[in-house]
Amino acid sequence: MVIEWRKIIPQIELIEEEDLRNKVIEVWNEAFKLGGWNEEELNELPFTLLVSDTPISLIDHTRLVTDIAIRVSESLKEEGGIELNRDYLIAGAILHDVGKLLEFGKSNEGIGVSYSGRLLRHPLSGLALAYKLGLPEEVCHIIALHSREGEGSYRNPEAIVLHHADFITFEIVKASMMNRSSQR
Ligand SMILES: [Fe+2]
Repeated sequence: MVIEWRKIIPQIELIEEEDLRNKVIEVWNEAFKLGGWNEEELNELPFTLLVSDTPISLIDHTRLVTDIAIRVSESLKEEGGIELNRDYLIAGAILHDVGKLLEFGKSNEGIGVSYSGRLLRHPLSGLALAYKLGLPEEVCHIIALHSREGEGSYRNPEAIVLHHADFITFEIVKASMMNRSSQR
């Protein structure tokens, strides 16, 4: 099955270096294949299992986090004179949760944490795939450290931006879903 990753995650086109762009797509393809998903399931895959009934899909979340990270990096440059590596930041943002294609699995009760996901959370499986497919260490770093696995560790500036972009969206979705359920 051929997935048009460039269409469903248009920010892939913003990666300037062609080799990096192609490798990002290879990682998504590999994770999709290993996870055993089909295209319909991919579109419905939630970005988190920690917020029940979230309307945000993994693909929506990936696009949103990537957009936020890009905008933050633009503000840092324009207003703060701080320049990040844009290609690494975008590639890391697009790949930060790709390991969820392995962390999540299908069962009769729906989507839950897979056996693989119990052993290796998505930052670890995403890192493994990125290393295997030859992504730069700077991109591997963003994937590996974006979540709680990175707490207390050195994060480079791109990883700091991505971590916060990710948690802004996660915390806001979590809070809005809690508000909704308390109003029921
Ligand atoms: Fe995320």
